[in-house]
Amino acid sequence: MAQIKVEKAKIDQKQTSLLIIGVFENEQNFSQSKELDPSVLTYIKETLDDKDFRGNFGSSMIVYTLGKGPMKKILLLGLGKRKQFTDEMARIAAGKAVLRAKELGTKEFSILQFSNLDEGLVEAMTEGIALALYSFDKYKAPDPESVKVEEVTILINSDSPRFQMIAEKAGHVAEAVNFARDLGNLPPNDCPPAHLASVALSLASEYGMKARVVERYEMETMGLGGIVAVGKGSNNPPKLIILEYNGAGDAKPYLLVGKAVTFDTGGISLKPGDKMDEMKFDKCGGCNVLALLRAVASMKLAVNVVGIVPSVENMPSSTAYRPGDIVKMYNGKTVEVLNTDAEGRMILADALAYGIATYSPKAVIDMATLTGAAIIALGANVAALVGNNKQLTDRVRRMAEKTGERMWDLPLYDEFHEQIKSTHADIKNIGGRPGGAITAAAFLSNFVGSAPWVHMDIAGTAWTQDGTYERSYNPKGATGFGIRTLVKLLSEEEKPPA
Ligand code: BES
Ligand code: ZN
Ligand code: ZN
Repeated sequence: MAQIKVEKAKIDQKQTSLLIIGVFENEQNFSQSKELDPSVLTYIKETLDDKDFRGNFGSSMIVYTLGKGPMKKILLLGLGKRKQFTDEMARIAAGKAVLRAKELGTKEFSILQFSNLDEGLVEAMTEGIALALYSFDKYKAPDPESVKVEEVTILINSDSPRFQMIAEKAGHVAEAVNFARDLGNLPPNDCPPAHLASVALSLASEYGMKARVVERYEMETMGLGGIVAVGKGSNNPPKLIILEYNGAGDAKPYLLVGKAVTFDTGGISLKPGDKMDEMKFDKCGGCNVLALLRAVASMKLAVNVVGIVPSVENMPSSTAYRPGDIVKMYNGKTVEVLNTDAEGRMILADALAYGIATYSPKAVIDMATLTGAAIIALGANVAALVGNNKQLTDRVRRMAEKTGERMWDLPLYDEFHEQIKSTHADIKNIGGRPGGAITAAAFLSNFVGSAPWVHMDIAGTAWTQDGTYERSYNPKGATGFGIRTLVKLLSEEEKPPA
């Protein structure tokens, strides 16, 4: 992991191979640029007089200082209109800066604060840099030509330690996101449920958390029928992974539940072959939950958090569960299986019911690549939220607005429960095409009782796929979407309510 520092800018002395300067549209002469040390102007003025660089968002231009300055090159980076500039744009622009620096083959670069200094800007810039530096190259021969960025300095016009702290925190969060990406990107042959279980055990010992892995035979006696049913079809046995972080004594914990289907073939209701490989990402909700516990523990947040990750491989075989099966779930409800590809809700339901009964959490949040219907409803860049508690859902939405992770809530009207009524059991595991993301959530709501709960369907956002908008800081593959928002939610818990 490259080092990202925040430093008070002394540009005229800053020895750096590449200095990156954000330029707002129509501010090419920098007369309005409060962020810029006038000394740097000498190196770029002539070039900018050309008016061939206008500062459009995402555009860039290299200026060679030809030995005149302490920096070898300057990269001007368009930021668009100052009035429209948001933290998310800062995150994207910082990501673009990294991509350009990688192309230029620099080991080290410095980047000037884009706009007026505040906490949001430093957080966004740090995140954009750390997230864009990520690459998944575990399975590739190293390229002898490629140069890794090792050191990045964000130059700001303050030496307040507050900004160092913000950058340090953002660094922890980004590390957790990259950890989730590393797990999510693993191919299914190297990531059976047992692998995720061993990762959780290592996290527990590294960060001093409690961990428990529930094995199949125990799940059978405990009555976790949903997880056992889905797990039956694979030779890789299911695992129920539990991590507990204690940062607030005996306060009620937050319960985070994440779907980790290490590969989703659909089972007997087999999926079509096209893009089936992408179903290795069906474990991303669970990977995110593991990463969240890592984040919370590494930041030593003053909250209690329990993470539960039901993990299975959904395979067709002579031992697989079938359409028509009736399964008894942890909370005693029976489910008629009408499609074995609706497996996520089967395993989440058990994990939710078990977690709520065991930990009486103050709030429950689950993350899952649950339905293709969520993508139909909101596209591949917005996660669907469905819950039973407006306050909690609104809180998640508010945090998401700060992190740039787009989320929108869908209504859980009573009528949706009609769609999952079953002839032969209490409920069935599919509700037809209309409102498929909501009926999946309606199914889950049968297992949460009255606990405040919100479900996050990350089917479209968990990895870059058809319909993903280019965001510089999200390289191809697993994104870790949702982690930053939930870390924020758990961090804000530290402050007493206003
Ligand atoms: N893992 C899939 C959902 C999914 C599909 C996520 C595409 C991301 C991209 C889930 O297990 C599934 O197959 N759901 C079915 C439910 C249906 C059978 C009711 C779906 O969405 O088609
Ligand atoms: Zn499925
Ligand atoms: Zn699935």
